[in-house]
Amino acid sequence: MVKICCIGAGYVGGPTMAVIALKCPEIEVAVVDIATPRINAWNSDHLPIYEPGLDDVVKKCRGKNLFFSTDVEKHVAEANIVFVSVNTPTKTQGLGAGEAADLTYWESAARMIADVSKSDKIVVEKSTVPVKTAEAIERILTHNRKGINFTILSNPEFLAEGTAIKDLFNPDRVLIGGRETPEVKSDPCFERCLCSLGAVRSNPLHQFVVC
Ligand SMILES: NC(=O)c1ccc[n+]([C@@H]2O[C@H](COP(=O)([O-])OP(=O)(O)OC[C@H]3O[C@@H](n4cnc5c(N)ncnc54)[C@H](O)[C@@H]3O)[C@@H](O)[C@H]2O)c1
Repeated sequence: MVKICCIGAGYVGGPTMAVIALKCPEIEVAVVDIATPRINAWNSDHLPIYEPGLDDVVKKCRGKNLFFSTDVEKHVAEANIVFVSVNTPTKTQGLGAGEAADLTYWESAARMIADVSKSDKIVVEKSTVPVKTAEAIERILTHNRKGINFTILSNPEFLAEGTAIKDLFNPDRVLIGGRETPEVKSDPCFERCLCSLGAVRSNPLHQFVVC
């Protein structure tokens, strides 16, 4: 079974992965987080966030092809595609304080992906990050790799809190950018994920941007 994993069980990671799991029953989706209380809540009757429609989607898939876990390294190692949706708060000190995004969590996630991976992976950044972050992540991943190919894609999130599920079922835009590598072109799982994100190739607002 094709496996995807999302690092970060927050406002973006949780609902997005739940909708992917619902739309792609043949894909196993794991949402992982270092925050145990958050994962416990995702596995309970009281989800950690409220979004209209989210409870229904989670109930339909949880335990079937949707799993919430703190075993971050195991699920990342097993995944064909890793989404990264960790928090990127505004820096409070140093260069760019009050303006720039703090990429500490993102960098730590990228290092962990590099450390635990034993097979080729597509890594999709969903966090809000500055332009060129994908290139920095690519450097972290390729510097550490042990003959493993990482394909880095950017899939910026346009979710609005309060309408997340409605937006995921019917997005007015989906933007995915990356290099058009053979891995991306030929990966059927990636094609399914694109569909599950609501991307329709004929819609000009649903773009795969090649750089
Ligand atoms: N919330 C929104 O409406 C929204 C909309 C568009 C974009 N975004 C962006 O999406 C990204 C995620 O936002 P969010 O609101 O889901 O954040 P969030 O704070 O709700 O969740 C992020 C989660 O990532 C986890 N995490 C951090 N580092 C980790 C690691 N190394 N391993 C495992 N888990 C880790 C944290 O414990 C946390 O639970 C941010 O960059 C944000 O700016 C958010």
